[in-house]
Amino acid sequence: MLFTFTSCTRSTSTAGNDAAAPQEQALSEADLDKARTNYVNYCGGCHGRELQTFVNRKWQHGASAKDLFKSIKFGHPQEGMPAYDTTFTDQEINLLVAYLRNGINSQKSLGNTPDLSKGAVYQSEEFRFRLDTVVTGLEVPWAMAFLPNGDMLITERSGTLYRFTQAKQLQKVAGTPEVLAQGQGGLLDIQLHPDFSKNQTLFLSYSAVKREGGQTLSTTAVMRARLQGNTLQDQKVIFEAQPYDRTRHHYGSRLAFGRDGFLYLTMGDRGGTKTNPQNLSVHAGKTHRIKEDGSIPADNPFVDQKDAMPSIFTYGNRNAQGMARNPETGEIWLHEHGPKGGDEVNIIRKGANYGWAEVTYGINYNGFKISDLQQKAGVTDPIKVWVPSIAPSGMAFVTGNRYKGWKGDLLVGSLSFRFLSRLKVNGNNIEGEERLLQDIGRVRDVRMAPDGYVYVAVESPGRIFRLVPVQE
Ligand code: HEC
Repeated sequence: MLFTFTSCTRSTSTAGNDAAAPQEQALSEADLDKARTNYVNYCGGCHGRELQTFVNRKWQHGASAKDLFKSIKFGHPQEGMPAYDTTFTDQEINLLVAYLRNGINSQKSLGNTPDLSKGAVYQSEEFRFRLDTVVTGLEVPWAMAFLPNGDMLITERSGTLYRFTQAKQLQKVAGTPEVLAQGQGGLLDIQLHPDFSKNQTLFLSYSAVKREGGQTLSTTAVMRARLQGNTLQDQKVIFEAQPYDRTRHHYGSRLAFGRDGFLYLTMGDRGGTKTNPQNLSVHAGKTHRIKEDGSIPADNPFVDQKDAMPSIFTYGNRNAQGMARNPETGEIWLHEHGPKGGDEVNIIRKGANYGWAEVTYGINYNGFKISDLQQKAGVTDPIKVWVPSIAPSGMAFVTGNRYKGWKGDLLVGSLSFRFLSRLKVNGNNIEGEERLLQDIGRVRDVRMAPDGYVYVAVESPGRIFRLVPVQE
């Protein structure tokens, strides 16, 4: 069988650039197979195994054959797109280009999540549950927080903070910080102060922007503010990672309060694999621990070390987009994205080194080894590794009595494989995994709400669901 594709795709940004592209090419089944294998192994983790991120796309760098070829060969390193010039021959790249164009045309309907308006019922190992659609009409909801009166706050990565009211209205909250909503950046996590009902204080993380010498730079920052009605007041930036960077990815940004009352935050490596995570004089590639006003706890591990950033709590971290306090032990757990393979769950302990990028279970996106080492003296081993990567985001421990058999387990979203993972926790060990809600969409956040239900935020189209066990 022959698969054909034409050069006439739905290019939006570079019409007219197609002149250099082949008019029509035939893909033999063998070529298609090769391209599919390369696509799944090298691209699917970030772009979706079924080309999800390419369907209905607003192309940044053009969709002509020539543009795609350039994107793949040279990458867009500042946006987090690796270069494949040392991995593939030009011919292999051309096959990938054909595979993309062919696939995108035949899969326009992908990217839609299943119709759940009637409340789909799912079977878990322990019980059946219904999926209620709570919020629709969002794009990329990055995080949720639940107010004492039952309203929900939702961050949209593009920069808006919403209040979703009991009356099911989405209202905008004013006074949010300026964000650089490019690549993985934007308005990111939200966390309420433990005494929110008394002080109405909350914390937002985001990619802050600085324009300098003709360049636009960004970094991860945390703002504290008071919520008065639908306005933020008394805004104060309590953390601003140094230095600012030209890249647009690996911002980390998850926030959690420890039992010690301090605010923990994850800071991604910003793409500086070699330069940042093992270097204590920069903020990137670490977790940090600060007081609620941004000052530094006196017993942070590196406060007395010259040239070390005093907010550092752990180092050798890559890009953690999920973090939560274990309600049993009080310790902070997080997961981090590995490169190609090697996503990890770690328990965060004062001063510990988690090894990135000297030690990893993953390999580089372009297929080359990052390190021969998976373990090393002085490096804390993860308690769970995913190979291949699931691209984890969001994290919550199951509490309360609604979910029989899940209590104490850890829920984690998967962006690339589009499911909700339930990790079976026993003490400080993970003893199994159940994959729920397969193909629900890119799961960005998961939280336990005060009403005792699990809420899950999914991207593009942005929706928020609630898991309701079915009584039998
Ligand atoms: C580490 C994650 C990652 C991997 C692996 C990856 N990409 Fe990308 N890619 C990105 C990011 C991030 C962008 C920037 C645009 C965006 O934010 O989606 C991008 C952009 C692109 C673009 C340009 C899109 C546009 O809007 O113009 C193309 C084409 C592309 N990738 C193809 C591929 C192919 C083919 C592979 C496999 C050989 C691949 N990518 C592997 C992350 C990745």
